[in-house]
Amino acid sequence: MRKQIAAANWKMNLTLTEAESLADELLQTNHALSDDQLAIFAVPYPYLIPVRTKFEGKENVYVAAQNCSANKNGAFTGEVSAAMLQSIGIEYVVIGHSERREYNHEDNSLLAKKIDVALEFNLKPIFCCGEALSIREAGSQDAYVGTQLEESLFHLSPSDVDGFIIAYEPIWAIGTGRTATSEQAQQMHAHIRSVLTSKYGKEVADSISILYGGSVKASNAKEIFGQPDVDGGLVGGASLVASEFATIISSLK
Ligand code: 13P
Repeated sequence: MRKQIAAANWKMNLTLTEAESLADELLQTNHALSDDQLAIFAVPYPYLIPVRTKFEGKENVYVAAQNCSANKNGAFTGEVSAAMLQSIGIEYVVIGHSERREYNHEDNSLLAKKIDVALEFNLKPIFCCGEALSIREAGSQDAYVGTQLEESLFHLSPSDVDGFIIAYEPIWAIGTGRTATSEQAQQMHAHIRSVLTSKYGKEVADSISILYGGSVKASNAKEIFGQPDVDGGLVGGASLVASEFATIISSLK
């Protein structure tokens, strides 16, 4: 059975003290995760080790990097490699968030390279896709997201993508308070799963967790996560508030 996942994306927020307090508050909420549920915290690089230390011993809780370089090593000042993340024991990495696509000009072919380097160093990618408002308004979101998957993932083998994590984040719903309706989320998630089925077959497609991201909150998580093809969420703003994120975790199927 595929994993149900509540993933926090702290983005570029919080000082170390604030990050540690948030982790402490979350620990006090004492959420229990079953074996097919995960909580993953994508935190800024400097907080990977301190936040992981806070969650030490907590079952099914992981820390993720928000990005990694497409290059293995070398003269790339300011970049962090997959090998470095592996060397400090990190297991997950977010790849292709729409903010990185927009502000750092990351395109589908660069993201394919990042996926390869992540897999080479045994990191599990959380691959983000999703369309801008203009694409949704033109009604071409299915084709657009299909191309994102094809150009960044379809060179991978079925065993590479078995148990993979994809986050569908419509850009028009990120940080806007305007969530996709649960029907819109289900429709796109079913489309993503059908694209994956046509390439990799049903068994592999059914093993892939597809998370929804974009203005997920404590108040709407249960309804969105309740959709058959929605396997949890990738959460920005609401993940910075312990009580909100604790409720989001407890809304997992
Ligand atoms: P918000 O939850 O703040 O809309 O952000 C979503 C997101 O970008 C998570 O990666």
